[in-house]
Amino acid sequence: LARGVATPDLAGRHIVVSAGGTREPLDPVRYLGNRSSGKQGYALAKAAAARGARVTLIEANTGLPDPAGVDVVRIGTAVQLREAVLKAAGDADAVVMAAAVADFRPAEYATGKIKKSDDGGAPTITLVRNPDILAEISADRALPGQVVVGFAAETDDVLANGRKKLQRKGCDLLVVNEVGERKTFGAEENEAVVLAADGTETPVPYGPKEALAETVWDLVLPRLRPLSG
Ligand code: CTP
Ligand code: CA
Repeated sequence: LARGVATPDLAGRHIVVSAGGTREPLDPVRYLGNRSSGKQGYALAKAAAARGARVTLIEANTGLPDPAGVDVVRIGTAVQLREAVLKAAGDADAVVMAAAVADFRPAEYATGKIKKSDDGGAPTITLVRNPDILAEISADRALPGQVVVGFAAETDDVLANGRKKLQRKGCDLLVVNEVGERKTFGAEENEAVVLAADGTETPVPYGPKEALAETVWDLVLPRLRPLSG
């Protein structure tokens, strides 16, 4: 094969990737959000498509252009992301949750803009928990042998927290990033370790998100169910 042309080792597969960060509306002009750029999820989607997969990319608020040859589904909130993931995962060989999902959403949505009061006070915003999509799809696989991958950004005790999270989520692989001042969120490069449910650990040196994407697919590949004829 020519240099730069990927081996089509994901041909015949349907791969679902979520990317970006959910936004939870407070009122018509405000939301609770996070700093996810979506770049890692897009790199995963592009790499899977280049390796021959049919790819559904579920995108939350990235503003990034649609990658060629990828089906893009646009959503905004965590609840919408859950709906889209459950739908796309129905016939998926692998699901990768690279999106940063808001853990909480405002308990109530104000249909009109929240205004300041004259007494100088500030409103209290009550939050409720969002569904844990990764835990749900891991516990209740749409197909036997479907591979489920999560991402985790940790600031302290990165490996110990990652191991606990892998267990709690019940996924097959967890890509653990160490986040700090300039690491990961919005950055072009990434350093990570991929933890597997079978106990193996694959360190991924600091490098482009495209390289991490290829490593993820290299680790997903041997875990995929046999291709049905
Ligand atoms: N995730 C999800 N649904 C949520 C929260 C997170 O599917 N409501 C997924 C993310 O897409 C990611 C993984 O779970 O793949 C880990 O996200 P993270 O925020 O690190 O995990 P949490 O369980 O929310 O733990 P924490 O309290 O550390 O935020
Ligand atoms: Ca979280």
